[in-house]
Amino acid sequence: MRPQDLIEKKRDGGELTRDEIAFLIRGYTCDEIPDYQMAAWLMAGFLRGISEAETQALVEEMLYSGDVLTHDQIAEPKVDKHSTGGVGDKTSLAIAPIAAACGVAVPMISGRALAHTGGTLDKLESIPGFRTDLSLDEFRRVLAACGLALIGQTKEIAPADRKLYALRDLTATVPFRPYICASIMSKKLAEGIDGLVLDVKSGNGAFMRDLEGAQTLAEMLARIGRGMGKRVVALVTDMNQPLGRWVGNAVETREAIEMLQGTLDGDFAQLSIELAARMLNIGGIEEDLDTARTRAVDAVTSGRALDRLRRVIELQGGDPRVADDPGRLPQALLSRDIRAERSGYVTGIETDEVGRVVMDWGGGRRRLEDAIDYGVGLNIHVKLGDPVKPGTPLVTAYYNDASKFESMADRLRRAWSITEEAPPPVQMIKAIV
Ligand code: URA
Repeated sequence: MRPQDLIEKKRDGGELTRDEIAFLIRGYTCDEIPDYQMAAWLMAGFLRGISEAETQALVEEMLYSGDVLTHDQIAEPKVDKHSTGGVGDKTSLAIAPIAAACGVAVPMISGRALAHTGGTLDKLESIPGFRTDLSLDEFRRVLAACGLALIGQTKEIAPADRKLYALRDLTATVPFRPYICASIMSKKLAEGIDGLVLDVKSGNGAFMRDLEGAQTLAEMLARIGRGMGKRVVALVTDMNQPLGRWVGNAVETREAIEMLQGTLDGDFAQLSIELAARMLNIGGIEEDLDTARTRAVDAVTSGRALDRLRRVIELQGGDPRVADDPGRLPQALLSRDIRAERSGYVTGIETDEVGRVVMDWGGGRRRLEDAIDYGVGLNIHVKLGDPVKPGTPLVTAYYNDASKFESMADRLRRAWSITEEAPPPVQMIKAIV
């Protein structure tokens, strides 16, 4: 078999066999197939389509590209949560400690920033010293010691996704359901979980902009997970504005810590409690969803969830003092408000553009090897439906590169639509699969 023949087959609209998908994924994972051939195949698939059978083969080949964990020594139900990606989505940082404090073991494998969306690993790495590249033994030890462990794809677990995730990001092949399914499910199924809660984002900050596309993605993800014997629930949630009040790495980590310190108002806290409650529910810890929500809130107000976060930070080499004093996280040197120029109500926010501004100001990568400026971020003052007057701050920008301020401020000002009529209220949870 030759990679160019499989590129040609897909280019011409053919369906690859299981053996052909295996050849591609195995060859790419062990560096026998170069990036340029895999990129060509990914784009051919993106344009010509990938069948359900090919998607299933991709999931399985990517899953078995590395080790598939088991955690027989851990008695607690093993449950994880994964988001399909959004802007300001820091829920993993809050949910994993909450669920762990309620008796769920959370072996979480996350990703880095992808396209305009932020990544859990980058947010975690804004904590001084925090390591997301644990060996398998370390991962197991941390999980056993504190009920959660937070890593990225490694050479041992989901190595195919590790390479493909970065390649898709650089070749405009991210927002495609078969690839998203294979990427997410290959890492999640490798974790050794019993159950999975999926947060499928829909809107202008998500990879699936329309509700129908997000619902189809949720159904595909749930079908694959259930077909592999896992309990799965997928929530389709709103991503037509940044989640919470902050966008950036260290600033979102701080927002998650403040939530665990007891700040329970706003859409970010509301969604985090809901997702954590769903984890307790499918983990069999709590049948009744209302009681599960109360237990998740109690894990925060009692300080038990924050304690879990402090412990996991310490066990993964980070500075645990940030859990009590998030001022120890990296901070930008400069800050300035960007203000509204007219009065009315916020009726639209170009959420993907907000994510791109943070990335272009140094808060994300253009290439995998780029260093991240962890302190860069935005504080979002007005969200959908909020009234504004000329001079009302829309956003406070935190940055180090002053030369970019004018162009970034201009992009941000244009990202907010302000009209005379208030929009209908945002419905956070749009569907449950
Ligand atoms: N999250 C992932 O892990 N992979 C994707 O492709 C998108 C979101």
